[in-house]
Amino acid sequence: MEKKLTIAIVGATGAVGQQMLQCLEERQFDVNLKLLASSRSAGKVFTFNNQKVTVKELTENSFDDVDYALGATENDLAKKWIPWANAKGVVVVDNSSAFRLDENVPLVIPEINPEDIKKHNGIIANPNCATIIAMVALHELHKEYHIKRMIVSTYQAVSGAGVKGIQDLENQLKDPDAPCTAFPYPIAYNLIPQIGDFDENGISKEEWKMQNEARKMWHHPDLLVNCTCVRVPILRSHSESIFIECEKEVDVNQARELISKGQGTILKDDPQNKVYPMPLDTTDQDLVYVGRIRKDLTDPTGRSLALFCCGDQIRKGAATNAVQILEKLIQ
Ligand SMILES: NC(=O)c1ccc[n+]([C@@H]2O[C@H](COP(=O)([O-])OP(=O)(O)OC[C@H]3O[C@@H](n4cnc5c(N)ncnc54)[C@H](OP(=O)(O)O)[C@@H]3O)[C@@H](O)[C@H]2O)c1
Repeated sequence: MEKKLTIAIVGATGAVGQQMLQCLEERQFDVNLKLLASSRSAGKVFTFNNQKVTVKELTENSFDDVDYALGATENDLAKKWIPWANAKGVVVVDNSSAFRLDENVPLVIPEINPEDIKKHNGIIANPNCATIIAMVALHELHKEYHIKRMIVSTYQAVSGAGVKGIQDLENQLKDPDAPCTAFPYPIAYNLIPQIGDFDENGISKEEWKMQNEARKMWHHPDLLVNCTCVRVPILRSHSESIFIECEKEVDVNQARELISKGQGTILKDDPQNKVYPMPLDTTDQDLVYVGRIRKDLTDPTGRSLALFCCGDQIRKGAATNAVQILEKLIQ
Protein backbone atom coordinates (compact mmCIF):
# COMPACT_ATOMS: atom_id res chain seq x y z
CA MET A 1 0.00 0.00 0.00
CA GLU A 2 1.33 3.48 -0.88
CA LYS A 3 2.29 5.63 2.10
CA LYS A 4 0.02 8.67 2.58
CA LEU A 5 1.71 12.01 1.99
CA THR A 6 2.00 14.42 4.91
CA ILE A 7 1.16 18.04 4.16
CA ALA A 8 1.81 20.86 6.61
CA ILE A 9 -0.11 24.13 6.68
CA VAL A 10 2.09 26.76 8.31
CA GLY A 11 -0.08 29.60 9.64
CA ALA A 12 -2.99 27.18 9.85
CA THR A 13 -5.12 29.34 12.16
CA GLY A 14 -5.12 32.45 9.93
CA ALA A 15 -7.52 33.55 7.19
CA VAL A 16 -5.52 31.83 4.41
CA GLY A 17 -4.47 28.80 6.47
CA GLN A 18 -8.07 27.99 7.43
CA GLN A 19 -9.13 28.29 3.79
CA MET A 20 -6.28 25.97 2.74
CA LEU A 21 -7.60 23.32 5.12
CA GLN A 22 -11.06 23.65 3.57
CA CYS A 23 -9.68 23.56 0.00
CA LEU A 24 -7.65 20.40 0.67
CA GLU A 25 -10.77 18.72 2.02
CA GLU A 26 -13.01 19.92 -0.83
CA ARG A 27 -10.47 18.74 -3.41
CA GLN A 28 -10.36 15.32 -1.70
CA PHE A 29 -6.74 15.20 -0.62
CA ASP A 30 -6.34 11.86 1.15
CA VAL A 31 -3.28 12.93 3.17
CA ASN A 32 -2.01 13.30 6.72
CA LEU A 33 -2.36 16.92 7.70
CA LYS A 34 -0.05 18.80 10.05
CA LEU A 35 -1.26 22.18 11.33
CA LEU A 36 1.39 24.64 12.52
CA ALA A 37 1.04 28.11 14.08
CA SER A 38 2.46 30.11 16.98
CA SER A 39 2.56 28.95 20.60
CA ARG A 40 -0.62 31.07 21.12
CA SER A 41 -2.61 28.60 19.01
CA ALA A 42 -0.90 25.33 19.95
CA GLY A 43 -3.55 22.88 21.20
CA LYS A 44 -6.44 24.28 19.12
CA VAL A 45 -8.28 21.50 17.32
CA PHE A 46 -9.70 21.50 13.78
CA THR A 47 -11.42 18.79 11.74
CA PHE A 48 -10.01 17.49 8.46
CA ASN A 49 -11.62 14.58 6.58
CA ASN A 50 -13.63 13.78 9.76
CA GLN A 51 -10.45 13.47 11.86
CA LYS A 52 -9.45 15.83 14.65
CA VAL A 53 -6.12 17.57 14.04
CA THR A 54 -4.38 19.50 16.83
CA VAL A 55 -2.38 22.62 16.02
CA LYS A 56 1.32 22.38 16.96
CA GLU A 57 3.78 25.18 17.58
CA LEU A 58 6.07 25.87 14.59
CA THR A 59 9.69 24.94 15.42
CA GLU A 60 12.79 23.98 13.47
CA ASN A 61 11.87 20.30 13.96
CA SER A 62 8.32 20.66 12.63
CA PHE A 63 9.22 19.31 9.19
CA ASP A 64 10.84 15.95 10.03
CA ASP A 65 7.84 13.92 8.84
CA VAL A 66 6.47 16.33 6.18
CA ASP A 67 6.45 15.95 2.35
CA TYR A 68 4.99 19.30 1.23
CA ALA A 69 4.18 22.53 3.09
CA LEU A 70 1.69 25.28 2.30
CA GLY A 71 2.83 28.62 3.74
CA ALA A 72 0.35 31.17 5.11
CA THR A 73 2.52 33.41 7.29
CA GLU A 74 3.93 36.91 7.00
CA ASN A 75 7.23 37.58 5.15
CA ASP A 76 9.65 37.70 8.10
CA LEU A 77 8.41 34.41 9.44
CA ALA A 78 8.41 32.79 5.97
CA LYS A 79 12.07 33.75 5.56
CA LYS A 80 12.80 31.99 8.84
CA TRP A 81 10.87 28.71 8.53
CA ILE A 82 11.07 27.95 4.79
CA PRO A 83 14.84 27.22 4.99
CA TRP A 84 14.07 24.81 7.87
CA ALA A 85 11.55 23.02 5.65
CA ASN A 86 13.82 23.00 2.59
CA ALA A 87 16.68 21.59 4.70
CA LYS A 88 14.46 18.56 5.36
CA GLY A 89 13.68 18.17 1.63
CA VAL A 90 10.19 19.64 1.99
CA VAL A 91 8.85 21.53 -1.05
CA VAL A 92 6.98 24.70 -0.01
CA VAL A 93 4.19 26.61 -1.79
CA ASP A 94 4.34 29.99 -0.07
CA ASN A 95 1.74 32.78 0.10
CA SER A 96 3.92 35.53 1.50
CA SER A 97 5.71 37.96 -0.80
CA ALA A 98 9.14 37.06 0.63
CA PHE A 99 10.34 35.02 -2.37
CA ARG A 100 8.01 36.10 -5.20
CA LEU A 101 10.57 38.07 -7.17
CA ASP A 102 13.53 35.75 -6.45
CA GLU A 103 14.74 34.55 -9.85
CA ASN A 104 15.24 31.01 -8.50
CA VAL A 105 11.63 30.82 -7.33
CA PRO A 106 8.79 30.27 -9.80
CA LEU A 107 5.76 32.50 -9.31
CA VAL A 108 2.72 30.62 -10.57
CA ILE A 109 -0.94 30.88 -11.46
CA PRO A 110 -1.83 27.39 -12.76
CA GLU A 111 -4.19 28.78 -15.43
CA ILE A 112 -1.38 30.99 -16.75
CA ASN A 113 2.14 29.58 -16.34
CA PRO A 114 1.91 26.00 -14.99
CA GLU A 115 5.08 25.07 -16.91
CA ASP A 116 7.13 27.25 -14.51
CA ILE A 117 6.35 24.91 -11.59
CA LYS A 118 8.95 22.38 -12.69
CA LYS A 119 11.75 24.97 -12.44
CA HIS A 120 11.42 25.04 -8.64
CA ASN A 121 14.29 24.54 -6.20
CA GLY A 122 12.14 23.80 -3.15
CA ILE A 123 9.95 26.92 -3.16
CA ILE A 124 7.07 27.96 -5.41
CA ALA A 125 5.56 31.37 -4.69
CA ASN A 126 1.88 32.17 -4.82
CA PRO A 127 1.30 35.65 -6.29
CA ASN A 128 -0.33 38.66 -4.67
CA CYS A 129 -4.11 38.24 -4.38
CA ALA A 130 -5.15 41.31 -6.44
CA THR A 131 -2.59 40.33 -9.10
CA ILE A 132 -4.01 36.80 -9.38
CA ILE A 133 -7.55 38.12 -9.85
CA ALA A 134 -6.48 40.66 -12.50
CA MET A 135 -4.32 38.19 -14.42
CA VAL A 136 -6.94 35.44 -14.48
CA ALA A 137 -9.45 38.02 -15.78
CA LEU A 138 -7.05 39.32 -18.45
CA HIS A 139 -5.11 36.25 -19.58
CA GLU A 140 -7.18 35.38 -22.68
CA LEU A 141 -7.23 39.04 -23.73
CA HIS A 142 -3.45 39.22 -23.33
CA LYS A 143 -2.97 36.10 -25.48
CA GLU A 144 -5.13 37.59 -28.25
CA TYR A 145 -4.28 41.32 -28.16
CA HIS A 146 -0.98 41.50 -26.19
CA ILE A 147 -1.38 44.01 -23.36
CA LYS A 148 1.21 46.82 -23.28
CA ARG A 149 -0.09 48.98 -20.45
CA MET A 150 -2.66 48.70 -17.67
CA ILE A 151 -4.27 51.16 -15.27
CA VAL A 152 -5.85 49.39 -12.31
CA SER A 153 -7.85 50.61 -9.29
CA THR A 154 -8.50 47.98 -6.65
CA TYR A 155 -11.26 47.76 -4.04
CA GLN A 156 -9.73 45.31 -1.56
CA ALA A 157 -11.65 43.46 1.15
CA VAL A 158 -10.61 43.68 4.81
CA SER A 159 -9.86 39.93 4.98
CA GLY A 160 -6.90 40.67 2.70
CA ALA A 161 -5.27 41.88 5.92
CA GLY A 162 -5.99 38.57 7.66
CA VAL A 163 -8.05 37.74 10.72
CA LYS A 164 -7.34 41.17 12.31
CA GLY A 165 -8.79 42.97 9.28
CA ILE A 166 -12.04 41.00 9.56
CA GLN A 167 -12.24 41.69 13.31
CA ASP A 168 -11.68 45.45 12.80
CA LEU A 169 -14.60 45.76 10.38
CA GLU A 170 -16.94 43.57 12.44
CA ASN A 171 -16.08 45.42 15.68
CA GLN A 172 -16.30 48.92 14.17
CA LEU A 173 -19.70 48.17 12.56
CA LYS A 174 -20.98 47.51 16.10
CA ASP A 175 -18.99 50.32 17.74
CA PRO A 176 -17.42 53.01 15.49
CA ASP A 177 -14.90 53.76 18.27
CA ALA A 178 -13.57 50.19 18.37
CA PRO A 179 -9.75 50.19 17.94
CA CYS A 180 -7.94 49.89 14.58
CA THR A 181 -5.59 46.90 14.72
CA ALA A 182 -5.03 46.14 11.03
CA PHE A 183 -5.45 49.53 9.36
CA PRO A 184 -4.24 53.09 10.07
CA TYR A 185 -7.84 54.46 10.20
CA PRO A 186 -11.33 53.10 10.92
CA ILE A 187 -12.52 50.99 7.99
CA ALA A 188 -16.27 50.82 8.81
CA TYR A 189 -18.17 53.44 6.78
CA ASN A 190 -14.82 54.47 5.23
CA LEU A 191 -12.24 53.47 2.65
CA ILE A 192 -8.46 53.82 2.89
CA PRO A 193 -6.29 54.59 -0.18
CA GLN A 194 -3.23 52.90 1.30
CA ILE A 195 -2.18 49.24 1.29
CA GLY A 196 1.47 48.87 2.28
CA ASP A 197 4.17 51.50 2.75
CA PHE A 198 4.77 54.20 0.12
CA ASP A 199 8.08 54.75 -1.68
CA GLU A 200 9.66 58.09 -2.70
CA ASN A 201 7.38 58.21 -5.78
CA GLY A 202 4.25 57.84 -3.64
CA ILE A 203 3.62 54.28 -4.88
CA SER A 204 2.84 51.61 -2.29
CA LYS A 205 4.41 48.17 -2.04
CA GLU A 206 1.06 46.56 -2.86
CA GLU A 207 0.74 48.75 -5.97
CA TRP A 208 4.16 47.69 -7.32
CA LYS A 209 3.22 44.00 -7.03
CA MET A 210 0.76 44.16 -9.93
CA GLN A 211 3.46 45.24 -12.41
CA ASN A 212 6.39 43.27 -11.02
CA GLU A 213 4.53 39.99 -10.56
CA ALA A 214 2.58 40.21 -13.84
CA ARG A 215 5.85 40.84 -15.73
CA LYS A 216 7.33 37.68 -14.21
CA MET A 217 4.35 35.38 -14.87
CA TRP A 218 3.60 36.61 -18.38
CA HIS A 219 7.35 36.66 -19.15
CA HIS A 220 6.67 40.21 -20.33
CA PRO A 221 9.40 42.54 -18.94
CA ASP A 222 8.07 45.62 -20.77
CA LEU A 223 4.55 45.53 -19.30
CA LEU A 224 3.60 48.87 -17.71
CA VAL A 225 1.10 49.01 -14.84
CA ASN A 226 -0.21 52.00 -12.92
CA CYS A 227 -2.10 50.72 -9.89
CA THR A 228 -4.02 52.39 -7.05
CA CYS A 229 -4.90 50.05 -4.18
CA VAL A 230 -7.80 50.92 -1.89
CA ARG A 231 -9.07 49.07 1.19
CA VAL A 232 -12.88 49.01 1.32
CA PRO A 233 -15.33 47.88 4.04
CA ILE A 234 -16.14 44.55 2.37
CA LEU A 235 -15.50 41.32 4.26
CA ARG A 236 -14.35 39.18 1.37
CA SER A 237 -13.60 39.34 -2.40
CA HIS A 238 -11.47 41.98 -4.10
CA SER A 239 -12.88 44.06 -6.98
CA GLU A 240 -10.82 45.80 -9.66
CA SER A 241 -11.49 48.41 -12.31
CA ILE A 242 -9.02 47.75 -15.13
CA PHE A 243 -8.03 49.66 -18.26
CA ILE A 244 -5.80 47.90 -20.80
CA GLU A 245 -3.96 49.27 -23.82
CA CYS A 246 -3.01 46.55 -26.32
CA GLU A 247 -0.78 46.14 -29.36
CA LYS A 248 -3.70 45.10 -31.58
CA GLU A 249 -7.12 46.64 -32.06
CA VAL A 250 -9.63 45.12 -29.64
CA ASP A 251 -13.13 43.89 -30.39
CA VAL A 252 -15.61 44.00 -27.50
CA ASN A 253 -17.69 41.03 -28.64
CA GLN A 254 -14.61 38.90 -29.22
CA ALA A 255 -13.26 39.99 -25.81
CA ARG A 256 -16.51 38.80 -24.21
CA GLU A 257 -16.26 35.46 -25.99
CA LEU A 258 -12.61 34.99 -24.98
CA ILE A 259 -13.45 35.65 -21.33
CA SER A 260 -16.49 33.36 -21.40
CA LYS A 261 -14.27 30.50 -22.65
CA GLY A 262 -11.26 31.34 -20.47
CA GLN A 263 -10.03 29.13 -17.65
CA GLY A 264 -11.14 30.36 -14.24
CA THR A 265 -13.39 33.17 -15.50
CA ILE A 266 -17.14 33.70 -15.83
CA LEU A 267 -18.58 36.44 -18.00
CA LYS A 268 -21.10 38.63 -16.13
CA ASP A 269 -21.64 41.34 -18.69
CA ASP A 270 -25.16 42.50 -19.40
CA PRO A 271 -25.25 45.97 -17.81
CA GLN A 272 -28.62 46.89 -19.35
CA ASN A 273 -30.10 44.10 -17.23
CA LYS A 274 -27.96 44.99 -14.21
CA VAL A 275 -25.64 42.01 -14.70
CA TYR A 276 -22.02 42.75 -13.67
CA PRO A 277 -19.48 41.35 -11.21
CA MET A 278 -20.01 42.09 -7.50
CA PRO A 279 -18.01 40.89 -4.50
CA LEU A 280 -21.01 39.36 -2.72
CA ASP A 281 -21.47 37.02 -5.70
CA THR A 282 -17.85 35.90 -5.87
CA THR A 283 -17.50 35.30 -2.13
CA ASP A 284 -16.58 31.73 -1.19
CA GLN A 285 -16.05 30.39 -4.69
CA ASP A 286 -13.06 30.10 -7.00
CA LEU A 287 -14.01 31.82 -10.26
CA VAL A 288 -13.21 35.39 -11.29
CA TYR A 289 -16.26 37.29 -12.56
CA VAL A 290 -15.62 39.73 -15.43
CA GLY A 291 -17.98 42.35 -16.86
CA ARG A 292 -18.59 46.03 -17.72
CA ILE A 293 -16.43 45.34 -20.81
CA ARG A 294 -16.31 48.37 -23.05
CA LYS A 295 -14.02 50.09 -25.51
CA ASP A 296 -12.12 53.09 -24.22
CA LEU A 297 -13.52 55.81 -26.46
CA THR A 298 -10.69 58.19 -25.56
CA ASP A 299 -8.24 56.01 -27.53
CA PRO A 300 -8.69 56.79 -31.26
CA THR A 301 -6.63 53.72 -32.26
CA GLY A 302 -9.26 51.34 -30.82
CA ARG A 303 -6.64 49.33 -28.92
CA SER A 304 -7.90 50.02 -25.38
CA LEU A 305 -10.53 48.33 -23.27
CA ALA A 306 -12.02 48.86 -19.80
CA LEU A 307 -13.57 46.20 -17.57
CA PHE A 308 -14.49 45.36 -13.98
CA CYS A 309 -13.75 42.07 -12.20
CA CYS A 310 -14.21 40.47 -8.78
CA GLY A 311 -12.76 37.37 -7.14
CA ASP A 312 -12.51 35.82 -3.69
CA GLN A 313 -8.97 36.71 -2.68
CA ILE A 314 -8.75 34.18 0.16
CA ARG A 315 -9.74 31.39 -2.23
CA LYS A 316 -8.44 31.99 -5.78
CA GLY A 317 -6.25 34.88 -4.60
CA ALA A 318 -4.48 32.66 -2.05
CA ALA A 319 -5.53 29.21 -0.77
CA THR A 320 -7.07 27.68 -3.92
CA ASN A 321 -4.21 28.87 -6.12
CA ALA A 322 -1.69 27.32 -3.69
CA VAL A 323 -3.60 24.03 -3.54
CA GLN A 324 -3.86 23.93 -7.36
CA ILE A 325 -0.05 24.30 -7.49
CA LEU A 326 0.27 21.49 -4.94
CA GLU A 327 -1.97 19.27 -7.09
CA LYS A 328 0.32 19.81 -10.08
CA LEU A 329 3.42 19.12 -7.94
CA ILE A 330 2.02 15.84 -6.66
CA GLN A 331 0.90 14.71 -10.14
N1 LIG B 1 -5.67 37.25 3.57
C1 LIG B 1 -5.54 37.25 2.23
O1 LIG B 1 -6.51 37.50 1.50
C2 LIG B 1 -4.22 36.94 1.59
C3 LIG B 1 -4.18 36.77 0.22
C4 LIG B 1 -2.97 36.46 -0.41
C5 LIG B 1 -1.82 36.32 0.36
N2 LIG B 1 -1.89 36.51 1.70
C6 LIG B 1 -0.64 36.32 2.47
O2 LIG B 1 -0.77 35.09 3.20
C7 LIG B 1 -0.07 35.18 4.43
C8 LIG B 1 -1.04 34.88 5.58
O3 LIG B 1 -2.06 35.87 5.58
P1 LIG B 1 -3.39 35.76 6.47
O4 LIG B 1 -4.28 36.80 5.93
O5 LIG B 1 -3.86 34.35 6.58
O6 LIG B 1 -2.83 36.25 7.91
P2 LIG B 1 -3.46 35.98 9.37
O7 LIG B 1 -4.91 35.75 9.29
O8 LIG B 1 -2.97 37.10 10.20
O9 LIG B 1 -2.75 34.62 9.84
C9 LIG B 1 -1.37 34.57 10.17
C10 LIG B 1 -0.98 33.17 10.57
O10 LIG B 1 0.42 33.18 10.93
C11 LIG B 1 0.57 32.54 12.20
N3 LIG B 1 1.70 33.06 12.95
C12 LIG B 1 1.89 34.32 13.39
N4 LIG B 1 3.04 34.38 14.13
C13 LIG B 1 3.56 33.11 14.14
C14 LIG B 1 4.71 32.52 14.72
N5 LIG B 1 5.59 33.23 15.43
N6 LIG B 1 4.93 31.18 14.53
C15 LIG B 1 4.06 30.46 13.80
N7 LIG B 1 2.92 30.96 13.22
C16 LIG B 1 2.69 32.27 13.39
C17 LIG B 1 -0.72 32.85 12.91
O11 LIG B 1 -0.86 31.94 13.98
P3 LIG B 1 -1.50 32.38 15.40
O12 LIG B 1 -3.00 32.20 15.21
O13 LIG B 1 -0.93 31.38 16.34
O14 LIG B 1 -1.11 33.78 15.67
C18 LIG B 1 -1.73 32.63 11.78
O15 LIG B 1 -1.97 31.25 11.63
C19 LIG B 1 0.53 36.60 4.46
O16 LIG B 1 1.86 36.58 3.97
C20 LIG B 1 -0.37 37.38 3.53
O17 LIG B 1 0.27 38.51 2.96
C21 LIG B 1 -3.05 36.79 2.33
